[in-house]
Amino acid sequence: MVQSSSATRIAAELRQLVAGLRAGARLPSTREIVTRFGASPVTVQQAVRMLVREGLVESRPGAGTFVRHAQPAPRADYGWQTAALGPVRSDAGFVGSTLQTVGPDVMALHSGYPVDDLLPVRAVQAALARAARSRSAIDRPPASGLPELCAWFAGEVAEATRSGGAAPTASDVLVMPGGQSALSSIFRALARPGEAIVMESPSYCGAIAAARQAGLTVVPVPRDPSGDGVDPLVLTEAFERSRARLFYAMPQVANPTGESWSASRAEELLDVVRSNGAFLVEDDWAHDFVLETPVRPLSAQDASGHVVYVRSLTKSVSPAVRIAAVIARGPARTRIQTDRVVDGLYVSGVLQTAALEVVSAPGWSAHLRRMHEQLRARRDALAGLVTELLPAETLTSVPRGGLNLWLRLPSGVDSDAFVAACARERVLISPGREWFPAEPPGAFVRVNYSGPDPARFEEAVRVMADVLAGGGAAGAGAAGAAG
Ligand SMILES: Cc1ncc(COP(=O)(O)O)c(C=O)c1O
Repeated sequence: MVQSSSATRIAAELRQLVAGLRAGARLPSTREIVTRFGASPVTVQQAVRMLVREGLVESRPGAGTFVRHAQPAPRADYGWQTAALGPVRSDAGFVGSTLQTVGPDVMALHSGYPVDDLLPVRAVQAALARAARSRSAIDRPPASGLPELCAWFAGEVAEATRSGGAAPTASDVLVMPGGQSALSSIFRALARPGEAIVMESPSYCGAIAAARQAGLTVVPVPRDPSGDGVDPLVLTEAFERSRARLFYAMPQVANPTGESWSASRAEELLDVVRSNGAFLVEDDWAHDFVLETPVRPLSAQDASGHVVYVRSLTKSVSPAVRIAAVIARGPARTRIQTDRVVDGLYVSGVLQTAALEVVSAPGWSAHLRRMHEQLRARRDALAGLVTELLPAETLTSVPRGGLNLWLRLPSGVDSDAFVAACARERVLISPGREWFPAEPPGAFVRVNYSGPDPARFEEAVRVMADVLAGGGAAGAGAAGAAG
């Protein structure tokens, strides 16, 4: 039935009236409402029926219209689902801690995504606007990605190819909707559920979760105390023991430790991978954030298809432009492409076009230079404060790039309790536990220096110092942290 506009208006007034009454109260009679609003009885009845349909009032014939008793929502019991689904595969706790959105007054050192100051904001907005007006807003791109974008990704690695290496070409590239998706596809495509994957420990928490979600068992290999990757003998043993065919690693500026492999160690580890008939999944997440030496992806030297390379633009172009690439050769590439197509068919052409415009524009290199200067200043400022205000040896190293410092807390400190105590003082950091595939060998936290307001680094580090000291800003929470 079409409601008259007067009925709608009267219903709105009655809703307000009902909101002020307790459950069971009687509404004025139809006659009273007719008089109050100067409307016809039919119009008033229409309005009252609207409220009945909304469940706000009920009509009791002969008695009147009454405000309904609030009906408690039935308590849902989904316990049967837990029984049906069985054990969880991966713990996505890191999503809560590194991706949480925070209010303006919080010192956010927890997240992995740089703030606007470090992004080419205007270039991204202009590129997206242009892409929206072009055919890419409508067309379906090729499943492996826009050829020009594939060529750009291949060219970036090819630049680092030396004699004896094998420069990748556009046909080795697959465009992915972000680095996380790339890792998930690789793990699903190159290993079967129940198999093992070897990872440096600590490692990127999202990779640990993606491997577990793919049904893989994560086999940790401890990082070499020298800071140079992992011991080749330990890696060999891990391959032999677990029969894994995948080794996931970040040879350049690992997340979270900031460590990088030397060229000679990289050669040794690649030899171990090759002689075990395995793949190195090289996550070059920090490619755009390496400050001190030229970036030389191992993929550039890989003539035999043992390296599967991942590079993402999410952190350097924009967190809203989810574009990454995988470089792989042979059947491995075909299998990863099959997984991608089965999972999502293809990646939005608008995002690919915009990303390509940003990274191939003349302003991109200048942007990277400016961003590097800022990151260097942020890194040095935070590292300096940590050295000055926190206990000796808290700073594990000054990374040659990336976005994070990896801090070792004094023995006896519980990193979760420390993180919680800092959070109560509005300083957010990432608990080290989330970055280990097995028991952590100590208490660690990751502190990101690419977030908002570097002017507040000192305040944040002072909060950490107070929490460690067991008093001051942390109040009662510090006891747990420093216990
Ligand atoms: C080491 C590493 N690899 C991959 C990813 C995922 O990249 P993306 O944001 O493009 O999905 C991240 C994100 O934090 C990361 O730190």
